[in-house]
Amino acid sequence: MSDQQRTIDYAERGTVIVVPDSEALARLAAETLASTSAEAVAESRQALIALSGGSTPKKMGGLLASQDYVGRVHWNYLQIYWGDERWVPLEDSQSNAGEAMRTFLSRVPIPDENVHPWGTDADLDPALSAERYTRMIREISGVEDSVPVFDLVFLGMGDDGHTLSLFPGTKAIRDTHSLTLAHWVEKLEATRLTFGPALANAASKVVFLVGGAGKAETLHQVLDGEEQPDLLPSQVIRPESGVLLWLVDDAAAAKLERSHG
Ligand code: 6PG
Repeated sequence: MSDQQRTIDYAERGTVIVVPDSEALARLAAETLASTSAEAVAESRQALIALSGGSTPKKMGGLLASQDYVGRVHWNYLQIYWGDERWVPLEDSQSNAGEAMRTFLSRVPIPDENVHPWGTDADLDPALSAERYTRMIREISGVEDSVPVFDLVFLGMGDDGHTLSLFPGTKAIRDTHSLTLAHWVEKLEATRLTFGPALANAASKVVFLVGGAGKAETLHQVLDGEEQPDLLPSQVIRPESGVLLWLVDDAAAAKLERSHG
Protein backbone atom coordinates (compact mmCIF):
# COMPACT_ATOMS: atom_id res chain seq x y z
CA MET A 1 0.00 0.00 0.00
CA SER A 2 1.54 3.32 -0.96
CA ASP A 3 0.62 6.35 1.11
CA GLN A 4 0.40 9.74 -0.53
CA GLN A 5 3.52 11.64 0.43
CA ARG A 6 5.26 14.86 -0.49
CA THR A 7 8.94 15.71 -0.43
CA ILE A 8 10.40 19.01 0.78
CA ASP A 9 14.01 19.92 0.10
CA TYR A 10 15.70 21.58 3.06
CA ALA A 11 19.14 21.57 1.44
CA GLU A 12 21.89 20.91 4.02
CA ARG A 13 19.22 20.51 6.68
CA GLY A 14 17.96 17.44 4.86
CA THR A 15 15.03 16.18 2.85
CA VAL A 16 11.63 16.03 4.48
CA ILE A 17 9.13 13.37 3.44
CA VAL A 18 5.63 14.13 4.72
CA VAL A 19 3.12 11.31 5.10
CA PRO A 20 -0.49 11.48 6.32
CA ASP A 21 -0.26 9.83 9.74
CA SER A 22 1.66 7.69 12.21
CA GLU A 23 0.82 4.44 10.45
CA ALA A 24 2.24 5.72 7.17
CA LEU A 25 5.29 6.99 9.07
CA ALA A 26 5.89 3.55 10.57
CA ARG A 27 5.47 1.89 7.16
CA LEU A 28 7.97 4.23 5.52
CA ALA A 29 10.45 3.62 8.35
CA ALA A 30 10.01 -0.16 8.05
CA GLU A 31 10.51 0.07 4.27
CA THR A 32 13.74 2.02 4.88
CA LEU A 33 15.09 -0.69 7.16
CA ALA A 34 14.04 -3.48 4.78
CA SER A 35 15.78 -1.81 1.84
CA THR A 36 18.94 -1.29 3.90
CA SER A 37 19.00 -5.01 4.64
CA ALA A 38 18.54 -5.79 0.93
CA GLU A 39 21.54 -3.57 0.08
CA ALA A 40 23.63 -5.50 2.62
CA VAL A 41 22.64 -8.82 1.05
CA ALA A 42 23.45 -7.51 -2.43
CA GLU A 43 26.90 -6.48 -1.20
CA SER A 44 27.41 -9.63 0.91
CA ARG A 45 28.12 -7.71 4.08
CA GLN A 46 26.62 -6.85 7.42
CA ALA A 47 24.65 -3.60 7.76
CA LEU A 48 25.08 -1.52 10.91
CA ILE A 49 21.76 -0.13 12.09
CA ALA A 50 21.12 2.19 15.06
CA LEU A 51 17.62 2.33 16.47
CA SER A 52 16.32 5.29 18.43
CA GLY A 53 14.45 5.15 21.68
CA GLY A 54 11.26 6.84 22.74
CA SER A 55 7.77 6.01 21.57
CA THR A 56 7.74 6.94 17.87
CA PRO A 57 9.71 3.86 16.67
CA LYS A 58 7.37 1.45 18.48
CA LYS A 59 4.89 1.35 15.61
CA MET A 60 7.76 0.59 13.21
CA GLY A 61 8.84 -2.28 15.45
CA GLY A 62 5.35 -3.73 15.50
CA LEU A 63 5.22 -3.60 11.71
CA LEU A 64 8.64 -5.22 11.31
CA ALA A 65 7.48 -8.13 13.43
CA SER A 66 4.25 -8.47 11.43
CA GLN A 67 3.60 -10.89 8.58
CA ASP A 68 3.87 -7.95 6.13
CA TYR A 69 7.52 -7.38 6.87
CA VAL A 70 9.10 -10.16 8.89
CA GLY A 71 9.91 -12.11 5.72
CA ARG A 72 11.12 -9.06 3.81
CA VAL A 73 13.98 -8.11 6.10
CA HIS A 74 17.25 -10.02 5.88
CA TRP A 75 17.67 -10.11 9.63
CA ASN A 76 20.91 -12.06 9.71
CA TYR A 77 22.57 -9.27 7.68
CA LEU A 78 21.75 -6.66 10.31
CA GLN A 79 23.80 -5.64 13.34
CA ILE A 80 21.44 -3.72 15.65
CA TYR A 81 22.62 -0.97 18.02
CA TRP A 82 20.93 1.91 19.83
CA GLY A 83 21.83 5.55 19.29
CA ASP A 84 21.23 6.24 22.95
CA GLU A 85 20.17 4.59 26.16
CA ARG A 86 18.95 5.42 29.61
CA TRP A 87 21.05 4.32 32.58
CA VAL A 88 18.56 1.63 33.63
CA PRO A 89 18.64 -2.19 33.56
CA LEU A 90 17.58 -3.87 30.34
CA GLU A 91 14.53 -5.22 32.21
CA ASP A 92 13.35 -1.69 32.99
CA SER A 93 10.43 -0.43 30.87
CA GLN A 94 12.47 2.76 30.35
CA SER A 95 15.22 0.84 28.57
CA ASN A 96 15.30 1.66 24.85
CA ALA A 97 16.98 -1.63 23.99
CA GLY A 98 14.93 -3.60 26.49
CA GLU A 99 11.67 -2.30 25.08
CA ALA A 100 12.70 -2.93 21.47
CA MET A 101 13.90 -6.44 22.33
CA ARG A 102 10.67 -7.22 24.16
CA THR A 103 8.28 -5.67 21.65
CA PHE A 104 9.78 -6.62 18.32
CA LEU A 105 13.29 -8.03 18.13
CA SER A 106 12.24 -11.08 20.15
CA ARG A 107 9.58 -11.70 17.48
CA VAL A 108 11.83 -11.65 14.40
CA PRO A 109 14.48 -14.21 13.33
CA ILE A 110 17.54 -12.09 14.13
CA PRO A 111 20.45 -13.94 15.73
CA ASP A 112 20.92 -12.92 19.39
CA GLU A 113 24.56 -12.10 18.68
CA ASN A 114 23.43 -9.44 16.17
CA VAL A 115 21.64 -7.39 18.83
CA HIS A 116 23.87 -5.03 20.83
CA PRO A 117 22.33 -3.23 23.79
CA TRP A 118 24.49 -0.82 25.78
CA GLY A 119 25.85 -2.26 29.02
CA THR A 120 23.83 -0.73 31.86
CA ASP A 121 24.50 -3.12 34.71
CA ALA A 122 24.47 -1.28 38.03
CA ASP A 123 28.06 -2.31 38.83
CA LEU A 124 29.32 -0.81 35.56
CA ASP A 125 30.67 2.71 35.30
CA PRO A 126 28.73 4.66 32.61
CA ALA A 127 31.90 6.04 31.02
CA LEU A 128 33.32 2.52 30.82
CA SER A 129 30.07 1.32 29.26
CA ALA A 130 30.39 3.99 26.58
CA GLU A 131 34.01 2.98 25.91
CA ARG A 132 32.95 -0.65 25.61
CA TYR A 133 30.20 0.29 23.14
CA THR A 134 32.70 2.07 20.94
CA ARG A 135 35.01 -0.95 21.17
CA MET A 136 32.20 -3.30 20.16
CA ILE A 137 31.19 -1.08 17.23
CA ARG A 138 34.81 -0.99 16.06
CA GLU A 139 35.22 -4.75 16.41
CA ILE A 140 32.04 -5.61 14.49
CA SER A 141 32.52 -2.95 11.82
CA GLY A 142 36.21 -3.84 11.45
CA VAL A 143 37.05 -0.11 11.49
CA GLU A 144 39.83 0.76 13.92
CA ASP A 145 41.48 3.93 12.65
CA SER A 146 38.56 6.05 11.44
CA VAL A 147 34.91 6.59 12.33
CA PRO A 148 32.82 3.46 11.67
CA VAL A 149 30.09 4.09 9.10
CA PHE A 150 26.58 3.08 10.06
CA ASP A 151 24.35 2.18 7.15
CA LEU A 152 21.27 3.58 8.84
CA VAL A 153 20.78 5.64 12.00
CA PHE A 154 17.20 6.22 13.11
CA LEU A 155 16.74 9.28 15.30
CA GLY A 156 13.87 10.78 17.21
CA MET A 157 13.44 14.43 18.09
CA GLY A 158 12.15 15.55 21.45
CA ASP A 159 9.80 18.53 21.69
CA ASP A 160 12.77 20.37 23.21
CA GLY A 161 14.77 19.71 20.05
CA HIS A 162 17.01 17.04 21.56
CA THR A 163 18.05 13.99 19.60
CA LEU A 164 19.90 10.88 20.72
CA SER A 165 20.64 11.90 24.29
CA LEU A 166 22.07 15.25 23.23
CA PHE A 167 19.96 17.56 25.34
CA PRO A 168 19.86 21.37 25.11
CA GLY A 169 22.71 23.08 26.93
CA THR A 170 24.86 19.97 27.29
CA LYS A 171 28.54 19.94 26.28
CA ALA A 172 28.01 16.69 24.38
CA ILE A 173 26.42 18.68 21.55
CA ARG A 174 29.83 20.22 20.76
CA ASP A 175 31.85 17.03 21.28
CA THR A 176 33.31 16.53 17.81
CA HIS A 177 35.44 13.43 18.51
CA SER A 178 33.74 11.00 20.92
CA LEU A 179 32.00 8.18 19.11
CA THR A 180 30.01 7.39 22.23
CA LEU A 181 29.75 9.11 25.60
CA ALA A 182 28.06 8.96 28.95
CA HIS A 183 26.91 12.15 30.62
CA TRP A 184 24.76 13.47 33.44
CA VAL A 185 21.72 15.31 32.07
CA GLU A 186 20.69 17.87 34.72
CA LYS A 187 17.28 18.43 33.12
CA LEU A 188 16.46 14.73 33.55
CA GLU A 189 18.48 14.30 36.74
CA ALA A 190 19.73 11.15 35.07
CA THR A 191 22.75 9.65 33.35
CA ARG A 192 22.41 9.02 29.64
CA LEU A 193 24.51 7.04 27.16
CA THR A 194 24.65 8.32 23.59
CA PHE A 195 26.31 8.32 20.22
CA GLY A 196 28.34 11.48 19.81
CA PRO A 197 27.54 13.72 16.83
CA ALA A 198 30.65 12.40 15.07
CA LEU A 199 29.35 8.83 14.90
CA ALA A 200 25.87 9.82 13.74
CA ASN A 201 27.26 12.25 11.16
CA ALA A 202 29.52 9.58 9.65
CA ALA A 203 26.50 7.43 8.73
CA SER A 204 25.46 6.68 5.17
CA LYS A 205 21.84 7.48 6.00
CA VAL A 206 20.35 9.30 8.99
CA VAL A 207 16.56 9.17 9.30
CA PHE A 208 14.60 11.24 11.81
CA LEU A 209 11.14 9.93 12.66
CA VAL A 210 8.98 12.80 13.90
CA GLY A 211 5.25 12.52 14.45
CA GLY A 212 2.46 14.41 16.13
CA ALA A 213 1.28 18.00 16.49
CA GLY A 214 3.36 18.36 19.64
CA LYS A 215 6.53 18.38 17.54
CA ALA A 216 5.34 20.91 14.91
CA GLU A 217 6.71 24.09 16.52
CA THR A 218 10.08 22.53 17.34
CA LEU A 219 10.41 21.00 13.87
CA HIS A 220 9.67 24.43 12.39
CA GLN A 221 12.40 25.99 14.54
CA VAL A 222 14.90 23.23 13.72
CA LEU A 223 14.34 23.33 9.95
CA ASP A 224 13.23 26.90 9.28
CA GLY A 225 14.89 28.73 12.14
CA GLU A 226 18.35 30.08 12.84
CA GLU A 227 21.28 27.77 13.50
CA GLN A 228 21.38 27.29 17.28
CA PRO A 229 22.30 23.65 18.04
CA ASP A 230 23.01 24.37 21.71
CA LEU A 231 19.29 25.08 22.09
CA LEU A 232 18.13 22.72 19.31
CA PRO A 233 20.58 19.80 19.34
CA SER A 234 18.85 18.10 16.39
CA GLN A 235 20.54 20.78 14.27
CA VAL A 236 23.95 19.27 15.05
CA ILE A 237 23.05 16.25 12.91
CA ARG A 238 24.69 16.98 9.53
CA PRO A 239 25.98 13.83 7.84
CA GLU A 240 29.37 14.52 6.23
CA SER A 241 28.53 12.63 3.07
CA GLY A 242 25.46 10.62 3.98
CA VAL A 243 21.78 11.25 3.37
CA LEU A 244 19.68 13.14 5.95
CA LEU A 245 15.99 12.30 5.80
CA TRP A 246 13.14 13.51 7.98
CA LEU A 247 10.11 11.20 7.89
CA VAL A 248 7.30 13.25 9.41
CA ASP A 249 3.52 13.07 9.52
CA ASP A 250 1.18 15.88 8.48
CA ALA A 251 0.64 16.97 12.08
CA ALA A 252 4.35 17.43 12.77
CA ALA A 253 4.89 19.16 9.39
CA ALA A 254 2.04 21.63 9.91
CA LYS A 255 4.26 24.64 10.73
CA LEU A 256 7.01 24.11 8.18
CA GLU A 257 7.50 27.20 6.00
CA ARG A 258 8.44 25.18 2.92
CA SER A 259 5.61 23.04 1.65
CA HIS A 260 7.05 21.24 -1.36
CA GLY A 261 9.96 20.91 -3.76
C1 6PG B 1 15.26 8.66 24.31
C2 6PG B 1 15.28 8.78 22.84
C3 6PG B 1 15.04 10.18 22.44
C4 6PG B 1 13.81 10.14 21.58
C5 6PG B 1 13.14 11.47 21.54
C6 6PG B 1 11.83 11.41 20.78
O1 6PG B 1 16.00 7.82 24.85
O2 6PG B 1 14.43 9.36 24.89
O3 6PG B 1 16.24 8.19 22.16
O4 6PG B 1 16.08 10.86 21.85
O5 6PG B 1 14.16 9.72 20.28
O6 6PG B 1 12.90 11.86 22.87
O7 6PG B 1 11.01 10.52 21.48
P1 6PG B 1 9.51 10.22 20.97
O8 6PG B 1 9.69 9.58 19.65
O9 6PG B 1 8.95 9.32 22.02
O10 6PG B 1 8.83 11.55 20.89
